[in-house]
Amino acid sequence: MARPQITLKLATSLDGKIALANGMSEWITGEKAREEGRKLRASHDAIAVGANTAVLDNPQLTTRIDGENDPIRVIFDTYLRLSWRSNLAKTAKTTPVWIFTNVTTGDNAEALEMQGVKLLKTPVNDGLDLNFALDFLYDYSVTSLLVEGGGTLAASFLRLDAVDVIEWFRAPIILGGDSRGSIGDLGLEDMNLAKRFNRIEIRDLGDDIHEKYERIA
Ligand SMILES: NC(=O)c1ccc[n+]([C@@H]2O[C@H](COP(=O)([O-])OP(=O)(O)OC[C@H]3O[C@@H](n4cnc5c(N)ncnc54)[C@H](OP(=O)(O)O)[C@@H]3O)[C@@H](O)[C@H]2O)c1
Repeated sequence: MARPQITLKLATSLDGKIALANGMSEWITGEKAREEGRKLRASHDAIAVGANTAVLDNPQLTTRIDGENDPIRVIFDTYLRLSWRSNLAKTAKTTPVWIFTNVTTGDNAEALEMQGVKLLKTPVNDGLDLNFALDFLYDYSVTSLLVEGGGTLAASFLRLDAVDVIEWFRAPIILGGDSRGSIGDLGLEDMNLAKRFNRIEIRDLGDDIHEKYERIA
């Protein structure tokens, strides 16, 4: 199946956490790492997040770099929890927001569409069907997709063996076991089934470390 090249981006603590238990995730990494994250956005056709990140963080998911085009913002949101009052919806007329969802009717759906958000009716298959979404994106000329989390969405892409590159930003802090993990459940029962990657780059970014990995073909 032809699909976009998929990059998973993570900003974690040393113990691999992406947010506190209460959902707070600003800011785990320092300014240099965040600047690299914005450049990564600018180099992709689209950015994807799961419904929890979209609702909890109320992000804009733009590059905030002068002269750079913002990628299409893609949300996986089965029950259309993202409000028409969200930052994403408010900016949909200037930078596209596409929501893969199972709900395309009702007041919130109508209000989102009025704001310029595109609702894409998507089959459900243990969460929204990611293959359907990837097919759709590729048909609409999205050749590169940056998956920005959270952990549940990241795990779904990993389960599909669809993560080609990982861009991992790691801060020298520890958040503890009650914080949110960077990757959700994979259901592995054998070490041989672990998802394996080759590290192709490692560098300091201020106090943080940036590691880049490629999927082992
Ligand atoms: N540090 C970082 O790099 C970083 C980056 C992003 C987010 N975060 C943090 O991560 C936390 C949220 O992570 P999370 O793991 O709870 O949620 P998430 O991955 O953002 O969203 C998961 C939700 O997306 C929806 N979804 C629909 N189809 C899916 C599919 N096929 N696979 C997976 N999810 C699908 C489901 O909600 P529905 O059933 O309602 O559709 C699912 O519960 C927030 O606290 C945020 O701040 C941190």
